[in-house]
Amino acid sequence: MRRRSILSCLAAPLTLLRARADELVWRGYLDWLRRQPIDLPDPRSAYLSELKRQGLDEHAAQARLSLIERMRRARPDDYQRAFFDRTYRATKPRFQSKPNQLLAETVKSLKPGLALDVHMGQGRNAIHLARLGWQVTGFDYSEQGVAAARKSASSSGVTIQAIVARHEDFDFGRNRWDLILMSYTWIPLTEQWIARIAGALKPGGLLVFEHLMDESGSDNAAAWLPRPNQLLHAFSALRILRYEDVRRPADWSWRPERVARLVAEKSEIPPAVHQQPE
Ligand SMILES: C[S@@+](CC[C@H](N)C(=O)[O-])C[C@H]1O[C@@H](n2cnc3c(N)ncnc32)[C@H](O)[C@@H]1O
Repeated sequence: MRRRSILSCLAAPLTLLRARADELVWRGYLDWLRRQPIDLPDPRSAYLSELKRQGLDEHAAQARLSLIERMRRARPDDYQRAFFDRTYRATKPRFQSKPNQLLAETVKSLKPGLALDVHMGQGRNAIHLARLGWQVTGFDYSEQGVAAARKSASSSGVTIQAIVARHEDFDFGRNRWDLILMSYTWIPLTEQWIARIAGALKPGGLLVFEHLMDESGSDNAAAWLPRPNQLLHAFSALRILRYEDVRRPADWSWRPERVARLVAEKSEIPPAVHQQPE
């Protein structure tokens, strides 16, 4: 009886120690991954060699890879963030590094104001807006992306506010922005997120959205990829000024893709208050 209670007293701290050790292994892997070239063909084998170089034998190294695989499934967000850090470290970008064309066309004749660049990446669009006189805030969870955006702003002689943040934690505000840009963002297109974004626009403000379209029809497709016609319904509280569903070169793909593009305006007129008959 006494032995059992001693064992159960030890169990909790041991579990905690184990979790800390697992966390260290996971962090070590992510740090290594961030430093690898984006075109590394087989990260698993490369990391196996790295572990052996560090002195682990085959059995210990394989056990560590299994733990990493479990962590990867449990923490996809950490893994994706490391992926984007690698993407933005690469000397040769694997995406369109010029400003998004829909954005450029839309703002050409607009009076500059306050702009929010959601998931700003390495800042290609934020810098374009700042050059035109917009006061730009952008955020992204990739530290490499935000660092690249700050560097590029300083070498272009413009000022932007570039913040490392997850969208889950970022304060979008209400009635705050004259322009919100969602260029290939990973924000789930759920009612909750759409309401938050539409609510953050000033009356008269514009939303510019472009992304690859999901054509699989699968329920498992990423929640941030628009389905056919989804944007028309999802943003129907805004006034839709432009909507396209086209096959064209896409900023984040190496081949032409089906792309959804939207420009929508928040009404200046507050919704009518219906008087109840006396
Ligand atoms: C496809 S890239 C688009 C980047 C940029 N908007 C552009 O058009 O070049 C998607 C971006 O979303 C960011 N991202 C993904 N999930 C995020 C999250 N939960 N919070 C903040 N940023 C996130 C990534 O780091 C990445 O920079």
